[in-house]
Amino acid sequence: MKTLKISRTNKLHGEVYIPGDKSISHRAVMLGAIADGETVIDNFLDSEDCLATLDCFRKLGIESRKSKVENRKLVKIQGKGLHGLSKPDGALNVGNSGTTIRLISGILAGQSFETTITGDASIQKRPMKRIAEPLSRMGAGISGREGRDVREKEGGGGSEIYPPLTISGGKLRPIEYKLPMASAQVKSCVLLAGLYAEGETCVIEPAPSRDHTERMLSYLGVKFAKLGNTVSVCGPASFEGRTIDVPGDISSAAFLMVAGLLVPNSDLLLRNVGTNPTRTGILEVLHRMGAQVEVLDEEIISGEPRASIEIRKLKIENRKLEGMEIGGELIPKVIDEIPIIAVLATQATGQTIIKDAKELRVKESDRIKTISTELKKMGAKIKEKEDGMVISGPTKLKGTKVQSYGDHRVAMSLAVAGLIAEGETIIEDTDCIETSFPGFEDLLKKLLD
Ligand code: S3P
Repeated sequence: MKTLKISRTNKLHGEVYIPGDKSISHRAVMLGAIADGETVIDNFLDSEDCLATLDCFRKLGIESRKSKVENRKLVKIQGKGLHGLSKPDGALNVGNSGTTIRLISGILAGQSFETTITGDASIQKRPMKRIAEPLSRMGAGISGREGRDVREKEGGGGSEIYPPLTISGGKLRPIEYKLPMASAQVKSCVLLAGLYAEGETCVIEPAPSRDHTERMLSYLGVKFAKLGNTVSVCGPASFEGRTIDVPGDISSAAFLMVAGLLVPNSDLLLRNVGTNPTRTGILEVLHRMGAQVEVLDEEIISGEPRASIEIRKLKIENRKLEGMEIGGELIPKVIDEIPIIAVLATQATGQTIIKDAKELRVKESDRIKTISTELKKMGAKIKEKEDGMVISGPTKLKGTKVQSYGDHRVAMSLAVAGLIAEGETIIEDTDCIETSFPGFEDLLKKLLD
């Protein structure tokens, strides 16, 4: 098990090309596999989660080839069309990736064979009723391990379905589906299944969630409509493969943004960061807390905006970092950034209230619990709430031994906390960083030089 040791530092300096976006890399593999002909994914995120998606499709009979051009990873996928996948030998394994299992289920629901999908210990605790319900309404057979809803006391509804999942696909019918929560994974699962159903499949979201699937479908020429919070596709929808250029992942960039703001004398330029408005909640939070972050040279490639982001140390003497309330429609736009926002909030004056975020309890770890517990070990003042947390600041953090709980975003958030904590911070179990940000540790070292 890997351990990461971090000491307080007084400068981070450099220019960084942020690794490819995880959500977009997954979708590019999936849509590339069911497109007709070749798809080239430029700046693919070569992380464990995305490699798990590639591997699942290899087992479904899709050939892919990886190469490297300068610092970018390229993947060429030989798409076989909507009905070209073949029954895998044995179960598909998604590793730690919730996005893989939820999205691929939509595609497998449209196949004429049965598939079993499993994953690691964390995946076996992720709720799947949210996709089982719409997919069975569309006519797919989907079953899993039945269990109690871990959020039952918050009105989670009693029973749940957990992986391994078995999906027997077939002829699907279109549905109109009102999502019970703002979830891009569930929305995308239903839209992908909708590619196979004859007629219009409609998804209504309670609040906007990331729209990468919709953007990629439009980019690939699939007929697709959006009106307010309703999106729909018309199936059956076949389409041709294309080059998909993946921007850097703003969720990875967020760790460096916060590090650059909190470490004195820092000066960072983050290149090629995805700035899709459904993902830029972190920029809104930084701005409202009083931090200075500049977004430069925005351009749209392959249907997704990207820009450079410049971060300079907080001018504490002129501008204080202020606590704020984060809730409502802002939550889906910062859902993966809450652990690192919690670190930032320990340095803000007053209270930062995070609410309406009970989804955090069913991510790679129960992030409300794991990040609060570990930051408290470092001296932070945090109160756990059912649907969020209240962080009071500013507090001086001190280095100590902390745990990642096998959660990549918790591990990297604690590493950033370690950069401003007194003494040494030892983060245990950091292999998980590979799921979304390979090279994170080496990159930090480079920025310290
Ligand atoms: C993702 C959507 C989010 C996010 C996850 C990736 C995606 O989950 O937390 O890391 O790629 O669609 P939900 O849609 O379940 O909120």
